[in-house]
Amino acid sequence: MNNIFGKSTSVSDALDTRLTCRSFLDKEINKDIIFDILDKARRAPSGGNLQPWRVWAISGDPLKEFKNEIRDKAIHNPRGEGTEYKIYPPDLKNPYEQRRRDVGEGMYSALNISRDDKAGRIKQFMRNFEFFGAPSALFFAIDRDMQEGQWSDLGMFIQSIMLLARENGLHTAPQEAWAIWYKTVSKFLEIPDDLMLFCGMGIGYADPNNPINSFRSEREEVEGFAKFIGF
Ligand SMILES: Cc1cc2nc3c(=O)[nH]c(=O)nc-3n(C[C@H](O)[C@H](O)[C@H](O)COP(=O)(O)O)c2cc1C
Repeated sequence: MNNIFGKSTSVSDALDTRLTCRSFLDKEINKDIIFDILDKARRAPSGGNLQPWRVWAISGDPLKEFKNEIRDKAIHNPRGEGTEYKIYPPDLKNPYEQRRRDVGEGMYSALNISRDDKAGRIKQFMRNFEFFGAPSALFFAIDRDMQEGQWSDLGMFIQSIMLLARENGLHTAPQEAWAIWYKTVSKFLEIPDDLMLFCGMGIGYADPNNPINSFRSEREEVEGFAKFIGF
């Protein structure tokens, strides 16, 4: 693996060093950098060139105010507001369920949070709603009329942002956890009713000293998911 804290100068390096950053430094990012990332990411492909992405970027005092609102609400209602879409299938089968468990266990063990430390796990989960300390955040929404194909387009757009972040020496944390606060997020950002919130994303500089950022999730080998025919 390459140095994850530097700036990527190739797509391969950006892919290799992108990880879900769960601890950011308290170091502001200039609006121009985020604007430039979005300006480049808009070249992402989409079926029929529908470009079905909508983005809210939030930073500074409004972000602080927003996080305070969520923190106050979460004290009384830690499960949030439900979700408008299913984050996972209702009965997640294997190997998917096992992978989900494995990544959770890997993450908690990097932080020395044991299996029976429920409070520790909840506390770490709640870090989602602080954007893991990121100085800026993005929210992604999609028109409710859109279908599976357009959700996939939105995913490609989001991945483009995450790779461009690496080129700027930044890291990201895509967060579906925000779906449980869809009402509050939509109200705060004044997201029109015809749009549905997909996810949030912390963006900033990774804290090199937090062990959580050294955790690397597993991947299946190519032979496990690809078939080559006619080569
Ligand atoms: C759309 C999306 C939503 C995610 N939501 C969360 C989240 O709410 N909280 C979290 O800690 N990680 C979240 N993740 C991170 C995944 O757990 C992570 O991508 C996966 O375990 C692979 O690890 P890596 O990103 O570090 O390579 C999300 C990832 C994606 C792509």
